[in-house]
Amino acid sequence: MSKRVAIFISGGGSNMLKLLESMTGDHPARPCVVLSNDPMARGLELAEARGVPTEVVRHEPFKGDRVAFEHAISGAIAPHAPDIICLAGFMRKLTESFVDPWRGRMLNIHPSLLPKYRGLNTHARALAAGDPVHGCTVHQVTPQLDDGPILGQAQVPVLAEDTADSLAARVLAQEHLLYPAVLRRFAAGDHRPILLR
Ligand code: GAR
Repeated sequence: MSKRVAIFISGGGSNMLKLLESMTGDHPARPCVVLSNDPMARGLELAEARGVPTEVVRHEPFKGDRVAFEHAISGAIAPHAPDIICLAGFMRKLTESFVDPWRGRMLNIHPSLLPKYRGLNTHARALAAGDPVHGCTVHQVTPQLDDGPILGQAQVPVLAEDTADSLAARVLAQEHLLYPAVLRRFAAGDHRPILLR
């Protein structure tokens, strides 16, 4: 039976779209819901246009009470009965109380070659460090931010003329290849890491 995948977003949803588009044919998973903390997230429209149910749980009303926010998320996704959660540009930190029950069943994509550059502004930090190679990582989610077993990485050469924006665009293009490839494997029970160069 297909695995049911919930995708969490906060914005544009380009990774989400690539994941949705990949889950057809003999893929071992199907999307069951797209959830956003931002009702204006463009990704919501993209999901709805493809017939995928959407849920919005705004974080502001919870005024920093992360656990209460996460309870609301759990309530919103429960009717869709996901087996796997994919964080795809979901820009809220999740606490242990949400992450622990999903351990081994929740993935994230991060725009750096972890363990380098956890957190934000990864492209500017790679440029400032003079790294010759940058990239992105898909990993299992643990309570530590941008940590957890690595399921795949894609490398991108850093060019002399790169700005943070040009580098981000090239990394994003690799994210769009890496995340679907990892999800396909992961949903089939294969946790061997993928390396794209
Ligand atoms: C992607 O680059 C993703 O790696 C990053 O946000 C972007 C979302 O773009 N995620 C993080 O920084 C999480 N730490 P998208 O909405 O177009 O997929």
